[in-house]
Amino acid sequence: MNNPSLALRFTLFVSFSLTASSFPQLPFFSKPASTPKAKPSDLLSLLSSKSQSLTVDPLVARDLNSCLKFLVPFSPEPRHRKLASATLIGSNRREKDDRLIWWPPQPVLDLARLAVDSGGDPSAIHRLLDPSVILVPDVEGSNQDRCQLTRTPYGRVFINEELNMYMKFLFELIAARAPSIGLDVALNRFDLFHGHMFLALDSGRLGILFHAREYPAYDKRDFPYNLGYCQRGSNVTYGDSMNMRNILWLAPLPGNSPKSWAAPGVLVVLDARPDGIIYRDLIPDYVKFARTIYEDDLGEVAVDVNYLNVGSESPNYQIFIC
Ligand SMILES: *[C@@H]1O[C@H](CO)[C@@H](O)[C@H](O)[C@H]1NC(C)=O
Repeated sequence: MNNPSLALRFTLFVSFSLTASSFPQLPFFSKPASTPKAKPSDLLSLLSSKSQSLTVDPLVARDLNSCLKFLVPFSPEPRHRKLASATLIGSNRREKDDRLIWWPPQPVLDLARLAVDSGGDPSAIHRLLDPSVILVPDVEGSNQDRCQLTRTPYGRVFINEELNMYMKFLFELIAARAPSIGLDVALNRFDLFHGHMFLALDSGRLGILFHAREYPAYDKRDFPYNLGYCQRGSNVTYGDSMNMRNILWLAPLPGNSPKSWAAPGVLVVLDARPDGIIYRDLIPDYVKFARTIYEDDLGEVAVDVNYLNVGSESPNYQIFIC
C-alpha cells in the first residue's frame, strides 16, 4: 500500500473492527419506556439554582437525584445566608471544607465568573496559565512501563497559586470523603489522578469531571480489557466502586449582576450503577463496561487537571495542567 491515506484508512478500519469485536455484550438494564431520556444538561440544571432545576422533567429529576451521592451537602441557598451561618456555626474542619466547596476563595470565584462572562470560551482559562512548561517526571514507576499519564508530556500551572492550591484541595477532599459513600479510591496513577476542566455548554458554568479508577487491572473474568501501558501493574480491582468513578465539581454559578451568585459550588459522585438513569442515558454504550461519562458531553473542555505523585522516596504530589 503506497498510498499513505489508503494505508491509514486500512489501519483505522482494522483497529476499529478489533475494538468493536473485543467488547463483549454486557447485560443492558432498561427502565420502562415511559421515563424520558436524561440529557447531560439535565444533570447540570439539577445542580444549579432552584428555578433552573425546575426546568428538568420531574421523572428525569427524580431518577437523576437517586444517582447523586454528595460528598458535600447540596445547599442551593443564596450567598448572604451561607456567609451569615458560617460565622455562627462551629468551625471544625468538616464545616470549613464544606464551605470551601460552596463558596471557594476569591480567585476561584473570579475564575467561575470569567468562565461565564467569556461565554464559555476555553481560552479564557488558558490565559490564566503560567506560560512556562514543566516536563512531567516519572510517576510511581510510570516511565519504566512506558506509560504517559497526561495528554501531553509536559504540564503547566495557574499563575495564581491559590488556584493551584484549590485544585489540590479538590483531589484531597474527594479522596478523604469517598469512603463515606462507599467509593474506594486512592490518589495514585492507576486510580484518581486527573479531572477534565470544562465550561458548560449552555451556561458557561465552570466544572471539573474527575475520573477515578482509571486503570483497573486486567482480569480474565472481571475485566478482560487491555488499556495499554498505563494499566500494567495496576492494583485497582474492577468492582462496585467502578460505578462511582465519575465525580463532578461545579464552581458556584454567577448571577446576573456583577456580585450576585445564582448557585453555590457542588461536589458530587455520579452513581452509574447499571439499574440507574446515569448508566442508561449518560454513559455511551461502547464504554458501559468502563462506566465513563465523557467530559465533552458536559461542556467545552479547557484543560486536564492532573495531580501526580512525582516523589521518588516519599510521596510528593504536584499539579500539572495539560
Ligand atoms: C497501588 O499502586 C500505587 C502506585 O504504584 C501505590 O502507590 C499504592 O501504594 C498501591 N496500593 C496498594 C494498596 O498496594
